[in-house]
Amino acid sequence: MSAEGVDPRRRRLLVATTGLGLVGAAFAATPFVKSMLPSARARAAGAPVEVDISKLESGQLITVEWRGKPVWIVRRTPEMLESLKQDEGILADPQSTVVSQQPAYAKNPGRSIKPEVLVLVGICTHLGCSPDKRLTAGATSGLGDNWPGGFFCPCHGSKFDLAGRVFKNVPAPTNLVVPQHSYLSDSRVLIGVDPKDQKDQKGAA
Ligand code: FES
Repeated sequence: MSAEGVDPRRRRLLVATTGLGLVGAAFAATPFVKSMLPSARARAAGAPVEVDISKLESGQLITVEWRGKPVWIVRRTPEMLESLKQDEGILADPQSTVVSQQPAYAKNPGRSIKPEVLVLVGICTHLGCSPDKRLTAGATSGLGDNWPGGFFCPCHGSKFDLAGRVFKNVPAPTNLVVPQHSYLSDSRVLIGVDPKDQKDQKGAA
């Protein structure tokens, strides 16, 4: 039946009931759309974290929380950077060959974008304890004269150097994780987001 053949009163009724049906469908759909959106808590749990490191002095460490995990940011001194070269013989994976433990842009001896700034997830790769910070080299660390500076997990004795690289013959199987991170400026680090040029490379791949 064509529209021309419909009685005008019946046509108005049809239009009215069709409109109500559409409004009803929209109301019915709203809870479903809402249920598909992540909650504010879920978004916050996965959101990047911006950190001001302008007051982080050489040799200091700060801890921030990202995705419920502690993330350490260390500003390494020239001496700390120099010590990384001496560590290779005592490390299980000095070249960071386990690719899951750091982004490609942190696969270098310092495991960082800027040599002096180390960003690490502070969770032991053995059973997930958070290691102690023993940044100072030598006997004052309590770990012996030969301690090069780094992190010690007292749970089962795992040791990591100042790039988060795991020692040989300890329970932890891999280096500590370097999270995705980038720089918004010299003094602002964004944890959880790759550098823009890395994203572009991934997009082109
Ligand atoms: S959890 Fe760190 S050594 Fe076991």
